Amino acid sequence: MFRAFFIYLSKAAWARRMVTKWDFAWRAASRFISGEKLEDAIQVVKKLNEKGINATLDHLGEHTSNPDQARQAAQDIIDMLDAIQASGVRSNVSLKLSQIGMGIDARLCAENLARILEHAKSLANFVRIDMEDASCVDTTLGLYREMVLERGFRGVGLVIQAYLYRSQEDVARLMEMGTRIRLCKGAYKESPEIAYPKKRDVDANFDLLARMLMDGAAKNGAPTLSEDGRIPPLPVMATHDIQRVRNAQHYAQQLGLPKGAIEFQMLHGIRRDLQEQLAVAGYPVRIYVPFGTEWYPYYTRRLAERPANLWFFISNFFRR
Ligand code: FDA
Repeated sequence: MFRAFFIYLSKAAWARRMVTKWDFAWRAASRFISGEKLEDAIQVVKKLNEKGINATLDHLGEHTSNPDQARQAAQDIIDMLDAIQASGVRSNVSLKLSQIGMGIDARLCAENLARILEHAKSLANFVRIDMEDASCVDTTLGLYREMVLERGFRGVGLVIQAYLYRSQEDVARLMEMGTRIRLCKGAYKESPEIAYPKKRDVDANFDLLARMLMDGAAKNGAPTLSEDGRIPPLPVMATHDIQRVRNAQHYAQQLGLPKGAIEFQMLHGIRRDLQEQLAVAGYPVRIYVPFGTEWYPYYTRRLAERPANLWFFISNFFRR
């Protein structure tokens, strides 16, 4: 109920208009958002890099509603790649296809994506396509295949959500293409016809998909994280769930995968202790560092994941 309500709020224009006017809401949200400007985010990445942790930068924004905005969003991502290069930080980028036009016209989105991938290629950097709600999965996989198989881009990866029943089949097909996959549980509200409603089933499917990804990595020669920290290994476990992390570590050891052949990813502001522990233990760790003014839907999804975050939000209201 709680989760469903906050996911509904994340899409409600009236709630967004109201909440983003409140100063205290930004104060609460800024636990998860590195700042409003690209320079703020680069500073956060520098601090992570000092601790041996890499990053993926996300310029917040989704469901862009006109072609000019979509082209501008693509340009902003290109500028972000340039800023990473200029500052020399160990970071790649993440993007949402709805940010660069998927909901307007798939061709416009493909052209924007190709422009970004061409630029990333010229800088030897990597682009991760985030996965949005289930209505976007087929288009996202289709655009990914077009970029790799028809246009020859290599520096691009995808996200798979463990709550979807279809994910085992998707992973099996994507592993044949040697896809770099970030595995997460899934952050949207989906119907029980297409997604596991119970947390324990999502967890079990996460473990199973994680094993499939690691088997695939072993078959593909277990490539390790690039020297500059930008190109991730094939399997990425994006979770703060300690049991999922331990299960993945255990299976990787059984398979004899080197530590550098599996990456752990977490969100900025969540489980810093675990992030640092894994980095000290020698695993590649990457933090998803979002920035920008379009923080409302991202932040509301973080509230949906954890009721306790709501108390933090409310306590900021009383500290005004
Ligand atoms: P779970 O929800 O079971 O939480 C485990 C523990 O982590 C909690 O007990 C708590 O300690 C901590 N925790 C989790 N969420 C928290 C929060 N919001 N605030 C404070 N503590 C929290 N989803 C998606 O659909 N598409 C995508 O592309 C991505 N991309 C992505 C990238 C990265 C790097 C991460 C880490 C996650 C995503 N996600 C995502 C989000 C993902 O699907 C999921 O919603 C969250 O990671 C929460 O799930 P956990 O795996 O952490 O487990």
